[in-house]
Parts: sequence; C-alpha cells; structure tokens
Amino acid sequence: MPFKLEKFLNTAVEAVKEAGRIQKERFGENFKIEHKGEINLVTEIDYQCEKVIIDIIKMEYPEHEILTEEAGSVQGLPPSQMEGKYKWIIDPLDGTTNYAHNYPCFCASVGLEINGDVVAGAVYNPIIDELFTSIKGEGAYLNGKRLKVSVIGDIGRSLLATGFPYDIRESKENNLNHFCNFAVRVQAIRRAGSAVLDLCYLAAGRFDGFWEMKLNPWDMAAASLMVKEAGGMITNFRGGEFSIYKGETLASNGLIHQEMIDILKLG
Ligand code: IPD
Ligand code: CA
Ligand code: CA
Repeated sequence: MPFKLEKFLNTAVEAVKEAGRIQKERFGENFKIEHKGEINLVTEIDYQCEKVIIDIIKMEYPEHEILTEEAGSVQGLPPSQMEGKYKWIIDPLDGTTNYAHNYPCFCASVGLEINGDVVAGAVYNPIIDELFTSIKGEGAYLNGKRLKVSVIGDIGRSLLATGFPYDIRESKENNLNHFCNFAVRVQAIRRAGSAVLDLCYLAAGRFDGFWEMKLNPWDMAAASLMVKEAGGMITNFRGGEFSIYKGETLASNGLIHQEMIDILKLG
C-alpha cells in the first residue's frame, strides 16, 4: 500500500469514527432540527460531526482544501511545496432524515481527491460498527475484509437501491418514473435513505445495482471508490463517464449494467 495514501486513509478513518461516535451517542436524544428546504433537514448533529471532521483534517493537513455539505468549500492555507491539489470531500451525516426520525440507518463519509481523482475514502456506520475503507488500486474493505461485488447476472433476481431528490415535490425529474420501470423488472428495490451506504452495500455484494439523480459530490466521493475497488461499474445513466460532480449515478456489479441502462432509457 502506498505509504502516503495509507496515512491519508488513517486520517479519514479517524474522522469518520469520531463523527460516528457523536452520532451514536446522540442518537434518539432531543436535538435541534432545521429545514434547509421543504423536506430537506439539517440537525445539530450534522454540524457537530462536520466540525470534528474538519478539525481532524485541518490538524494534519492545514494546507488542503475541504468541500463539505453544510459549510461548503473551506480553503486551505496557501500551498507551500505541495505537489498536486488535495481536496477532502465530506458528508458529515448521510441519512439525516433517518437520523431525525430515530431510524438507525446513517453514516459519516470522508473521501480524498488528489488532482481531481478520488484516491482514498472511509465510511462509518456507528450503529452496526461497520467501517468501509478504500485506497485507489488497493481494493475496498469492510472491517478489514476485502470486498467484492455480487455475481448476480439476471436482473430479474437482482436487489437494487435508489433514492429520491429533495425537490421531488417540485420537479418532474424526480426518479418516480425510473422507480416504476425498475420495480416491475427486478426482484426488489430498497430506499433506505443513505446513498453513501447504498453504494458501500453494492461494493459489499448486498445490492446488485444502484441508481440515483441529483446527488452531490459528498454523497459519492468515498463510496464511488468503494464500488470501483470492489470490481463494480459506475457511470452516468447512459453508460458514459462517471463524475462525482455531475449528480447522476448508475452503479452495478457490471453484469446487469447494460440492462439497467436500457431500463433508464424508458424514461
Ligand atoms: C441524502 C441521502 C439520501 C439520498 C439523498 C441525499 P443527506 O443525503 O443520501 O439517501 O436519497 O439524495 O441527499 O441529506 O442525508 O446527507
Ligand atoms: Ca448525503
Ligand atoms: Ca449529509
């Protein structure tokens, strides 16, 4: 394992574990909940987790840039002799709606991008103590055990995951059409409320495919690396190049990818 990347991963792990500790400690308690939109919530815990994650990263790498859901873009110190552009991409609490309703399905996610490429990531679910880690070229792991995507090639036997955007009430592009088209062709679909865990579960072979629109870079940075490093495929809805900045994600074990593209084309 490249030494420097391992060091970066250790920082990511420390950060998600610390955020997870707070999430678990405060789970089910009374905490402040605000509305960012009609159905888009943010809790006191999102902010608390974000602060500890930023503090941990800044302590180690004050010159690196940070992109995080609630605080936005946090510039680093002026680069000294740094080679390349380092950006940490953070979802301090993925599954905020679940958290606000005391539904135990959420996590913290930290990914590191170097020169536009995600090279390391950590995701932690504190409720069942599952830590997903990955380094580019070195595989993806769950609590230290190497991950591999599933081998289900028949879409009729596949278990898929998806989610719906926060503008579901206002926008016609709200994924309900795709949901209906998939629902009658696959074994089942889950909508658990954490896109980050959905992608990690795909990497772990628990899901065979995942699609979602209007996601943000912090939903996908670390988790997309898990999928790739577990041998999965990740593209846009048409099978074109995937980008964490473009919102659209189609991920699968590779075997059902083309069929998923064909179903998404039905519109
Ligand atoms: C959300 C969750 C959800 C997905 C949404 C995301 P948040 O993230 O991942 O599953 O459907 O699109 O925004 O707001 O809980 O961090
Ligand atoms: Ca999220
Ligand atoms: Ca979040």
